[in-house]
Amino acid sequence: MTVLEKSGTDIRFISKVKESQDSKYEYSDSELNEIGTEYCTHGDKVYAEPIPKVFRDCNGVFMYDSEGTPYLDLEMWFASCNLGYKNKRIRDAVVDQIDTLPQISSHFLYDYKVLLSEKIAKANIKRFGEKGRVHFNVGGSQATEDALKLVRNYTHKNRVFSFFGGFHGRTLGASCLTAGYRYRKPFGHFADEAHFVPYPYCFRCPYGKKCDSCNYYCVQQLRREFEDNCAGLYDHSSKDCAFGAFFVEPVQGSGGYIVPPKGYFKELKKVLDDFGVLFVADEIQMGFYRTGKLWSIEHFDVKPDVITFGKSLTNGLNPLAGMWAREEIINPEVWPNGRTHSTFCNNPVGMRAGYEVMKTFEEHDFETEVANKGKYFLDGLKTLERKHKRIGTVDGLGLALRIECVTEDGYTPDPGLLHKIMEESLKGDLTYRGKKCGIILNKGSHYNNSITLVPAVTISYDEIDMAIELIDQLFTRVS
Ligand SMILES: Cc1ncc(COP(=O)(O)O)c(C=O)c1O
Repeated sequence: MTVLEKSGTDIRFISKVKESQDSKYEYSDSELNEIGTEYCTHGDKVYAEPIPKVFRDCNGVFMYDSEGTPYLDLEMWFASCNLGYKNKRIRDAVVDQIDTLPQISSHFLYDYKVLLSEKIAKANIKRFGEKGRVHFNVGGSQATEDALKLVRNYTHKNRVFSFFGGFHGRTLGASCLTAGYRYRKPFGHFADEAHFVPYPYCFRCPYGKKCDSCNYYCVQQLRREFEDNCAGLYDHSSKDCAFGAFFVEPVQGSGGYIVPPKGYFKELKKVLDDFGVLFVADEIQMGFYRTGKLWSIEHFDVKPDVITFGKSLTNGLNPLAGMWAREEIINPEVWPNGRTHSTFCNNPVGMRAGYEVMKTFEEHDFETEVANKGKYFLDGLKTLERKHKRIGTVDGLGLALRIECVTEDGYTPDPGLLHKIMEESLKGDLTYRGKKCGIILNKGSHYNNSITLVPAVTISYDEIDMAIELIDQLFTRVS
């Protein structure tokens, strides 16, 4: 039986509804929750719903609950599945790898590690005109750790900059760069905590300025700090900087999908170059065409020294991540064997998935497609902004989009409203074309009031229409 029928349009969430829950699953939802309550830690989850939602299947841009009800997914495993769930091409490649060379110790060489490294390195020569090398590890946080080590190894400095609202992972080292105090609070004092700098969040400018007239006031403030011999950043007599690098999310992810003004990073880079600070672009969440470019930093006409990446590298089929750096920083003379290594860091299943992902991106014009779909989606959101007073602003770049929930005054952040929307979205009782469905949203932001939308880059226009309709229903319901 189909849940939502195809009706001459491009909606691809046909699913079989099971006839009876008991006949299909060995454990019911409530049994799973009972066992989980008894035996699972809560420490490795992000959100704390009292009763976590159980899903049983996924396909394309949909997840399916135990009733077979489809949920349009605008979160996609925190941006890890940009090419959609169960993408056949990536799946077939992984299965072939499992049948061919599924396991190999990382000091031996095999084809796909080399070929994936070549793809990423050549993609960066094309984009930035820079030769470089690629280094892998098993997750985004580990890629951040490796980048921190790389910066220390090259600059012999252990202090770095990061942004208000920045998120770079939760290992101890990565937590030093992750701005929110709540991430560090239970773990004591962090001696190497980054120097946090205001992000260009122009809708809520930390300096109370207006974007069109501020002349990058926030960057000028940082320059002033560097110029002050007593501010702690730079020793003007020996021309020595206390800091090795600035870790940057070119579009802020967990901070709430905030897009800086076009010229911002060029201005920032001038300051960093003047005082000898490396530019590390964290593309873990915004990479792989989320914003319509392989790397989101490409929108800002700046050449990074280091790029970290993860999540959608394998389309969620293997926890592989990594970093690329300019040759000068990462060549074997300065970065020899064993500088960082983890048993699974060069695993062949991940490399094969990553290779197929990169090939898929090379063979389709996602740059045009994501730009067009992103504009279409954002236009739909702007219509909702005009209709619903409780939407303060909508914005985005490519398919990285946000909606800010606000109070009646149209500006004050309203975390309570966001909470209600998140609750309603997962009930599975919205309707589209007369059928029951739900929607999966993500949240983030400096003020805990933004819905962040992270659809697969393969989402269809009809599915975007469905998203707009369902978000409209949610705001109508809670307002
Ligand atoms: C920008 C950014 N950097 C780093 C990380 C950490 O990656 P992981 O969760 O794979 O450790 C994340 C995760 O959300 C992220 O969004």
